[in-house]
Amino acid sequence: MNNELAERLIKISIDNPLLPETFIPWEETLGLNDVYLPPYLVSLYDTPFFETLTPIQKTELAKRETCQVMYAYAWSETLFCQFITRRLLTIDPAGWEHKFLLRELIEECRHQEMFTRAIEKLNVKAITPGFWHRFFGNFTVKLMPHDAVFMSCLAVELMAEIYAAHYRKADNVYIVLKKVSQLHHIEEARHILFTEELLKDYTMKAGFIKRTWYSTLVMLNIYFMRTMYVKKEIFSAIGISDPKVYKMAQKNFKKNFGIHCLGKSVEFVQGFNGFNFITRPMWRLFLNANV
Ligand SMILES: [Fe+2]
Ligand SMILES: [Fe+2]
Repeated sequence: MNNELAERLIKISIDNPLLPETFIPWEETLGLNDVYLPPYLVSLYDTPFFETLTPIQKTELAKRETCQVMYAYAWSETLFCQFITRRLLTIDPAGWEHKFLLRELIEECRHQEMFTRAIEKLNVKAITPGFWHRFFGNFTVKLMPHDAVFMSCLAVELMAEIYAAHYRKADNVYIVLKKVSQLHHIEEARHILFTEELLKDYTMKAGFIKRTWYSTLVMLNIYFMRTMYVKKEIFSAIGISDPKVYKMAQKNFKKNFGIHCLGKSVEFVQGFNGFNFITRPMWRLFLNANV
C-alpha cells in the first residue's frame, strides 16, 4: 500500500465532508408512491403468501426490514470502530494508516448517527442482535488478528455498498433512505479502496490455507449480516403468527439475496482465488451463492 493513495483519500475526506445533517432531507416524509425497500429485497416478495398481505402489512414489513438493514450497518460499524481504536494504539501515529483510520473513524461515527436517525424517522424499534451475533461480533473485533478484522470489515462494507446501490437504483425509494445510501456509498467507496489496498499484501502472498480462511471469513460475515434482517418478531408485530410464513420468508430471502446481493463480494473473493473445494460448498450452502 502506498501512502500516496492514502493521502489522496484523506484529502478528499477533509476537503469534501458529507455531513448527514445537511446532506439528508430529514424533514421529507414518505411520498404517495414511495417504498421503504426495493420490493425484491423484502423477504416475502414473490412468494404465494405475499399477495395475501394487506397493503398496510406489505408496507410495514418493508419498513421493519429496512430498519433492520439500517440497524445492522450501524451496529457493525460500532464494532469496527472498536477495532480501529484498538489498532490505532499499536501503529505509528505519524504514518498514513494512522491518519487514514482516524478519518475513517470520524466518518463511521457520522454514519452510525445517520443510520440511527434514519431508524428514528421510520419510527419502529430495531430488533437487536441475539447472543451469538453479539458473541461473534465482539470476539472478532477484540481478539482476532488485524488482517482478519479488516477482511471482515471489508465483507460488510461490500455488502453495504451493494444494498446502497439497490436503494439508489430504485426510483421510488423514500428520499431519506435514498440519500442515506448515497452518502454511505460515496464514503464507503473510499474505505473499500483503502482496505482492499491494505489487504493486497496479505492476499497476494496467501497460500491455500490463508485463502481458504479469508474466503470463509468473508462468507461468515455476510451470513452474519444477512441473518440480522429477517426476524420472527417482525412477523408477529404485523399480525402474522403462522411460523411457516417466517420459514418461507427466510428461505425466500436467502434465494433473493443470493441473486441480488453477492456480486461484488464474489468478485472480491475470486480476485484472491478464494474459491476452492472447501469454500465453494460453504458459499453455496450458507449463502446460496452461484460460485
Ligand atoms: Fe460506514
Ligand atoms: Fe467504512
